[in-house]
Amino acid sequence: MNPPTPSTITIDGPAASGKSTIGELLARHLDYLYFDTGVMYRAVTWAALYYGVPIDDEAAVTALAERLRIDVAPPNVDDGCDPVDGRDPVDGRQYTVLADGADVTWEIRTPAVNAHVSPVSAYPGVRRAMVAQQRRVAAGGRVVMVGRDIGTVVLPDADLKLYLDASVEERARRRWREVRARGEETDYDAVLGSMRRRDDIDSNREDSPLRVAADAIVLDTTDMSVEAVLAETERLVEGGGWTAE
Ligand code: CDP
Repeated sequence: MNPPTPSTITIDGPAASGKSTIGELLARHLDYLYFDTGVMYRAVTWAALYYGVPIDDEAAVTALAERLRIDVAPPNVDDGCDPVDGRDPVDGRQYTVLADGADVTWEIRTPAVNAHVSPVSAYPGVRRAMVAQQRRVAAGGRVVMVGRDIGTVVLPDADLKLYLDASVEERARRRWREVRARGEETDYDAVLGSMRRRDDIDSNREDSPLRVAADAIVLDTTDMSVEAVLAETERLVEGGGWTAE
C-alpha cells in the first residue's frame, strides 16, 4: 500500500529561497491548490502606496488591510488564451492578483513595494486580517501554502512542513536574474541590499517572525537546481518522510 499523501503542505523561508517555484511545481504534481501568501502582504502594501496611506501609520494601514478586497485567480481568466503549464504564455504570470478589482499582478513586484512590504507585514492587525483569509483558503486541504509563518502560525497542524533556505548572495542572484528576465533594469548590489533589509525585518519582528518550525524539514538550496529540490520534496511527500496524525 502506498503511504498516505499529506493534504496540507507548508513551505516557509526567506525571499527568493525557491518557495514559489517549488510550491507551484509541487502543487501541480499533486493536483493541489497553490497559494502564495506573500502576494496578500504585497497587495496591501501596493494599495497603501496607491491610496496614499502613510506606511508608518499603523492604524490606517491596518484599516486598509481589513477592508481591501484581494483576489487571487488562475492566469488568463478572461483574455481568451489558455495557460501553458499553469502559466500565462503571454507574460509568464503564475496567477492574477486583483486588489479592489484592479489587476496588480506586476505592480506588487516593484522596488517600491519590495522596500515597504516588510514594515507593513510586521503590523499585528495586518497579519490578523491576512491570516484569517489564509486559514479559510486552506480549510479544505489539498493545498500547498507558501510564506514566512505558515508552518509556525497559520497552519501549525499542517501534515508536512518544509523550510527552504539559501545564502543571501545566491538568493539575490536569483532575484536579480528574475527581474532582468522580465526586461527590467536592476543592479545586483541594490537587490542584495534590499533583500538583507527585508530578511532582517522579517526575522526580527515581534509578531510571527520568520522561523523554522520545530517539526519542519529544512532544505538548503544554495547549490541545488530547481529539479533537484523538486525531486527531494516529491520524495518527502511520497516516501512518507512525514507522519499522518
Ligand atoms: O517572493 P519573496 O520571497 O521576495 O517575498 P514574498 O513571499 O512575496 O513576501 C513578501 C513579504 O511579505 C516578505 O518579505 C514578508 O515581509 C511578508 N510576508 C509575511 O510576512 N508573511 C507571509 N506569510 C508571507 C510574506
